Amino acid sequence: MGRAKKVVLAYSGGVDTSVCIPYLKQEWGVEEVITLAADLGQGEELEPIREKALKSGASESLIADVRETFIKDYAFKAIQANAIYENRYPLATALARPLIAKALVETAHKYEADAIAHGCTGKGNDQVRFDVAVAAMNPRLKILAPAREWGMSREETIAYGERFGIPSPVKKSSPYSIDKNMLGRSIEAGLLEDPSYEPPEEIYEMTKAIANTPDEPEYIEIGFTKGIPTTLNGESKTPIEIISQLNQLVGNHGVGRIDMIENRLVGIKSREIYESPAMVALIQAHRDLESLTLTADVSHYKRGIEETYSQLIYNGLWFSPLKAALDAFIEKTQERVSGTVRMKLFKGNAIVVGRRSDNSLYNPELATYGSEDQFDHKAAEGFIYIWGLPTRIWSQQK
Ligand code: ARG
Repeated sequence: MGRAKKVVLAYSGGVDTSVCIPYLKQEWGVEEVITLAADLGQGEELEPIREKALKSGASESLIADVRETFIKDYAFKAIQANAIYENRYPLATALARPLIAKALVETAHKYEADAIAHGCTGKGNDQVRFDVAVAAMNPRLKILAPAREWGMSREETIAYGERFGIPSPVKKSSPYSIDKNMLGRSIEAGLLEDPSYEPPEEIYEMTKAIANTPDEPEYIEIGFTKGIPTTLNGESKTPIEIISQLNQLVGNHGVGRIDMIENRLVGIKSREIYESPAMVALIQAHRDLESLTLTADVSHYKRGIEETYSQLIYNGLWFSPLKAALDAFIEKTQERVSGTVRMKLFKGNAIVVGRRSDNSLYNPELATYGSEDQFDHKAAEGFIYIWGLPTRIWSQQK
């Protein structure tokens, strides 16, 4: 008896996930491996990846184009929540995992598989995200993670694959571990493991070096409807268009690079490099529009929710009761977050230089220092007396 009969494997086309196919069958007695590669807009050719799975022994090789869902149901939720982990990371990799897990579970149901599998090791966050998301959607499905148990080095993994006709990587494989999708790239390992080592220019793809960015600033205007980006420079855009066009525009000015030491869920600190131009600009613009359209108390309260929400995403709890409850809160807050934000892109900066909304709570007659001032200055005295009363009494008592 093997560990499972029919398995749906999350497939990327890389050495590890390819070796998972023969490994599951030879070592763990799996009868049938169906692979699933998700198109998250990573810009890779998927047909060769599909064929490689079949050559590696998959009985069925599927590709799921989930780009639109990824942006609408994942990235846009993260933007509404201004979700940034540890104040820096816009969660591009973390957001993709629950969606891939969902596609795996749906495929397992369709093909009546009894398990899903992935190629994650035991050290990272991604295994947690996959496993918890799968369990949340179907706790009866088994989860197989060969790379968590096989204990093979890189060389051994390649040698194992060669025995089953899996070609070793043609180009000298990158010294880095890279995950990418439409929302950004995550780069780690190799020389980057030294936290004091400056990332070499060659690791970046979506963002230009400041030395090569335009010498003239460029202005863009992002329009939001209920907290969701819908227009760019006055034109309506589909979700995929907004993200891909902003990646271009913003990345061209060198905006969206992040170099950080991050706390993984499994307790390890790791050095991570990210580039995520569209998300960085969109969250900044969205936050700004909220400052114009939300009341002070909602805005302040939401900051705490955002922190929790970012941690939920990072920690693999996308499909969880707390996440669903916070979604309801966030959705309610977004009802009036509509309007436009103007940004200036220049030499690595995306700076908000103006905002406009029909729901603006900014009241010029109250804010002005000019003669149109409607604010009742005399009312301030009584307010301050009561506001400061506890402090006054405390001071007198000393
Ligand atoms: N540390 C990031 C996260 O947990 C990115 C992980 C990306 N994986 C990779 N193979 N580079 O979301």
